Amino acid sequence: MRVDVITIFPEYLSPLDLSLVGRARARGILDVHLHDLRQWASDVHRTVDDAPYGGGPGMVMRPEPWWAALTEIGGAGGPDPAMGRRPRIIVPTPVGRPFTQAYAARLADEPWLVFCCGRYEGIDTRVIEEWADDEISIGDYVLAGGEVATLVMLEAVTRLLPGVVGNAESVVDDSFASGLLEAPVYTRPPVWQGHEVPAVLRSGDHGAIGRWRRDTALLRTAHRRPDLLEAVDLTEHDRAICAEHGMGDHGTAGGADPNGRVAQ
Ligand SMILES: C[S@@+](CC[C@H](N)C(=O)[O-])C[C@H]1O[C@@H](n2cnc3c(N)ncnc32)[C@H](O)[C@@H]1O
Repeated sequence: MRVDVITIFPEYLSPLDLSLVGRARARGILDVHLHDLRQWASDVHRTVDDAPYGGGPGMVMRPEPWWAALTEIGGAGGPDPAMGRRPRIIVPTPVGRPFTQAYAARLADEPWLVFCCGRYEGIDTRVIEEWADDEISIGDYVLAGGEVATLVMLEAVTRLLPGVVGNAESVVDDSFASGLLEAPVYTRPPVWQGHEVPAVLRSGDHGAIGRWRRDTALLRTAHRRPDLLEAVDLTEHDRAICAEHGMGDHGTAGGADPNGRVAQ
C-alpha cells in the first residue's frame, strides 16, 4: 500500500519509523511519502494560512497550497503513473464520521491513501468539497492538528495489511472484529498477587476455552459498550448468557462483573 501524508510538520510523523509500522515499511508492505505543505506555498514566507471570512478567532489553511499539493501528488494519476489511478483522500477532522475498525478494514483494501493534516481552524472547506473522499474523526475531542489522527488511522490500517501481524488470527479475534470487545487475556504465573487465572484457560479443552471466550466477550461488551450489541446477531445461547447474568439482549447492565467473568 502506498500512503502520502501532507502536513506542515512532517517530523510529527516520525513514529512511522518505529515498531509494527516501521517494520511494515522496511519490508516494503507500506510505502510512506511525507510532504511538507509549505513547499507548495507561493510567497517568500511560505504562508499556508489566513484570517477566516466572517471574522472570529484563529486562522484557516488557504486553499492554494492544498490545491497545488493534491494536484501534484494525487491528481490525474499522480506523479507515479504506475499507480494508474487517483488515491483515496482522507481529511482527519473533528466534524467527520467516527473512525471505526470496519472503516480501517475498508482502507486496508485500498492501494493508495492520501492523508491531509489540517492545523489552526482547519482547511478551507472548498478544498475538502473538491478533493476529500472521507472526512474522519478519531473521537469527540479537538486535537491541535491532523498528524496524530493520521498516525492513529495508519497504525490501525497497517495491522490489517496481509503479512504485517505475525499471527493473522490475532487480528480476527481483536475487539470490534466480530462486533464484540475481546475477552480478558492472561499469561503466567497462574496465580499472581492472589488473583487466579480462570481454570478453563488452563484446562487444555479448546472447545470450552472458545465458549468461555465468546461468553466473557459478550458479557464484557454488554457491560462496557452496550451500544455495540445493537449491531451483533445474538444466538439463543448468547441471549441465555445475558439473561443468566441479569442483562437484557442489548446490555442493560445488571449486576455483572465489569471484567465480564462467567461462572465456570
Ligand atoms: C484545532 S483543530 C480544528 C478544530 C475545528 N476548529 C473544529 O472545532 O472543528 C485543527 C486540526 O486538527 C485535526 N483534528 C482535531 N481534532 C480531531 C479529531 N478529533 N479527529 C481528527 N482530526 C482532528 C484536524 O485536522 C483539524 O483540522
